Amino acid sequence: MEKRAFIKSYGCQMNVYDATRMADQLRAAGFRVVDEAEGADLVLLNTCHIREKAAEKVYSELGRLKGAVGASGEPTMIGVAGCVAQAEGEEIIRRQPRVDFVVGPQAYHHLPDLIAEAGKGAKPVATDLDEDKFEHLARPNRRSVTARGVTSFLTVQEGCDKFCAFCVVPYTRGAEVSRPMADVMDEALQLVDGGVREITLLGQNVNAYHGADGKGGTVTLAGLVDRLAGIEGLARIRFTTSHPNDMGEDLVLAHRDQPKLMPYLHLPVQAGSDRVLKAMNRKHTAARYSELIARIREARPDLALSGDFIVGFPGESDEDFEATMTLVREVNYASAYSFKYSPRPGTPAASREDQVPAEVASERLQRLQALLTAQQKAFNAGCVGRRVPVLLEKAGRRSDQLVGRSPYLQPVHVPASAGAIGDIVEVAITAAEGNSLFGEVVSERSAAA
Ligand code: 5AD
Ligand code: SF4
Repeated sequence: MEKRAFIKSYGCQMNVYDATRMADQLRAAGFRVVDEAEGADLVLLNTCHIREKAAEKVYSELGRLKGAVGASGEPTMIGVAGCVAQAEGEEIIRRQPRVDFVVGPQAYHHLPDLIAEAGKGAKPVATDLDEDKFEHLARPNRRSVTARGVTSFLTVQEGCDKFCAFCVVPYTRGAEVSRPMADVMDEALQLVDGGVREITLLGQNVNAYHGADGKGGTVTLAGLVDRLAGIEGLARIRFTTSHPNDMGEDLVLAHRDQPKLMPYLHLPVQAGSDRVLKAMNRKHTAARYSELIARIREARPDLALSGDFIVGFPGESDEDFEATMTLVREVNYASAYSFKYSPRPGTPAASREDQVPAEVASERLQRLQALLTAQQKAFNAGCVGRRVPVLLEKAGRRSDQLVGRSPYLQPVHVPASAGAIGDIVEVAITAAEGNSLFGEVVSERSAAA
């Protein structure tokens, strides 16, 4: 009987992408990939270690899975993948003996072997960081590409050399590695061939991309975007996440010159106080960030900006926090993510003695989120009355609606008669509610937005 596998992903978009590549591996190993844990012969938890809450979720899920059985009546095989796997390794099996194997993010190409070993009763742990998994992973197959729909992630860079004092990524994902341009082009062509119209290039530090160009040199992210833009049928390109210090002038100008590059940029600053930025080892000041934003906005005046913020970093004073609020007021974000600082084992900030009390951090987070939400609402409201090209992505919750995305990444709901999934239609925005826009189709268009 065909065995069934279920992958559950937590955390960031890179995990979502990794899950699609792991699914390809599992299919190649004879599994049918299903979308529920019930009755699965293999459950793979693709975990996140970025904050304590995210990491703890894994253990609660493992507890729930303890008694799980597959369709055959045998106990479900349980694997732990992702960043918790990398950070905790064998400790996971000690804490939850029901786990059959552990596989870190750079070892996914070993999945079939690990499953075979686990099947024999061994409890293998694969957390080597110094391999290039992309060289070994099964190529995405047609079936998984079709399952991705009209938008897809594509990892072009992985790992981080920045070592921000709060962050586990350099430890869980290893050093920065860029995939060669030819590999990325290959995968992108395959995605477009399978119906993908928008690709989001992923990397923990994507704008530091410097993949081999096949001629003995390297190509920057702007160069890669340019090459990708030459693919007929690919209408939209996005990338995430970027570090301010790696925002090259060519990438800034690509936002002016490359029509397929969408006017949306996720550029985390984390904090607005130079003292805190220094303690975070961010290696830039608030003023340098603002100046960079000004240059990007000069290149692309309608650009929607997004960011990440941490409040309550050790030693953050009221005055430091006010500096974050001031920066946010100055920059004006279209959307943003904000978090309470969470000490992560093994990171430099975790051992500092001047941790901020939880209530203080909570109160700051509330104030920051209120400001960011107001900015997002204002940005969305500002779109009412405008016309924007919308890439239709999927059926809406209501059967008479389709949902697409504006160039600024906002979900846009339109009547189902608007067109087919994959079309880019011109929409007159009539209303903004919550995080979504609503509108009427004015005309069909299929060119890049
Ligand atoms: N505590 C809280 N937030 C964190 N982030 C990263 N590490 C931590 C931490 N220890 C946030 C940063 C980063 C985003 C992905 O998660 O804002 O940009
Ligand atoms: Fe973490 Fe991003 Fe800093 Fe790298 S640049 S250490 S991924 S927060």
